[in-house]
Amino acid sequence: MYGNDIPEQPGTAGLLDEVAAAERDLAGRDHDASADPTAYFDAVIAADGKIEPRDEMPEAYRKGLIRQIAQHAHSEIIGMQPEGNWISRAPSLKRKAILLAKVQDEAGHGLYLYAAAETLGIDRAELYRLLLAGKQKYSSIFNYPTLTWADVGAVGWLVDGAAIVNQVPLCRCSYGPYARAMIRICKEESFHQRQGYEILYTLATGTPEQKAMAQDAVDRWWYPSLAMFGPPDTDSTHSAQSMAWKIKRFSNDDLRQKFVDMTVQQAGVLGLVLPDPGLSWNEERGHWDYTQPDYDELFTVIKGDGPCNRERMAHRQAAWDDGAWVREAAMAYAEKKKVTT
Ligand SMILES: [Fe+2]
Ligand SMILES: [Fe+2]
Repeated sequence: MYGNDIPEQPGTAGLLDEVAAAERDLAGRDHDASADPTAYFDAVIAADGKIEPRDEMPEAYRKGLIRQIAQHAHSEIIGMQPEGNWISRAPSLKRKAILLAKVQDEAGHGLYLYAAAETLGIDRAELYRLLLAGKQKYSSIFNYPTLTWADVGAVGWLVDGAAIVNQVPLCRCSYGPYARAMIRICKEESFHQRQGYEILYTLATGTPEQKAMAQDAVDRWWYPSLAMFGPPDTDSTHSAQSMAWKIKRFSNDDLRQKFVDMTVQQAGVLGLVLPDPGLSWNEERGHWDYTQPDYDELFTVIKGDGPCNRERMAHRQAAWDDGAWVREAAMAYAEKKKVTT
């Protein structure tokens, strides 16, 4: 799925084909929702179809989606910072060009997702305001620093890798604009994962110092990447309703397990060690046993006390302030056009 050297994972192979089939089903379905909107919503969800912006939907569905899509959009654009940090210091022109393209991709992901959220009747300026006011969150992972060049590899391999495992099932989520945005995002994320893997492979097969740098980066990024899947199922507040509405398809713990199983194999090819002495193959379960991340740390970071939370938000606030003249100029231009046409 994500390249020749990365084997297909159970449960994710052929997903895009399934999305295409679901879209065909939807196109063939009678769209008369006027008779009983609630029954229509329930029927579409039950039939694995897509809810579209024009359809009636429960208020909690709409609000929950806004929360989730906004958090996702914020993560994409805040996630530009730790890697943007290395654009000017990439070790070659080729590496610089690749990283620049990757960081630009993340801006594009933010754009698709803010646009998807807007179809639910909220303005992106309002979402931005909520982010800057600390009322909406972004992924905790982006509050960790990128200390060496190898971190750019580890972020691509582990963070984008975890994002893919989380996001491929969202290509099938019940809200049409979100599902369609995710298809393109996942295709681009797979490039990101591969470029990170390739950076680490180059370092891991280089000098002993380079290999040590790669290992150090993996040591620091492993547990925060596991924490990206959120709290354990027993403590996850939004999961049950999200699964009933077919926004979420797998539980946090199932996705985390999928990621561990996939990554252990890839670490073997890299010749790097995942920093978990508890990792062992469980024949009975058919999965790797692993040590859970420190969820207290996760909650500390979510609450705003991670290593880089303040820096990330200050940077975002400065970008908003510095961009004021662009927004004002665009509005003035739009007004002028309105008058002259
Ligand atoms: Fe992304
Ligand atoms: Fe990415």
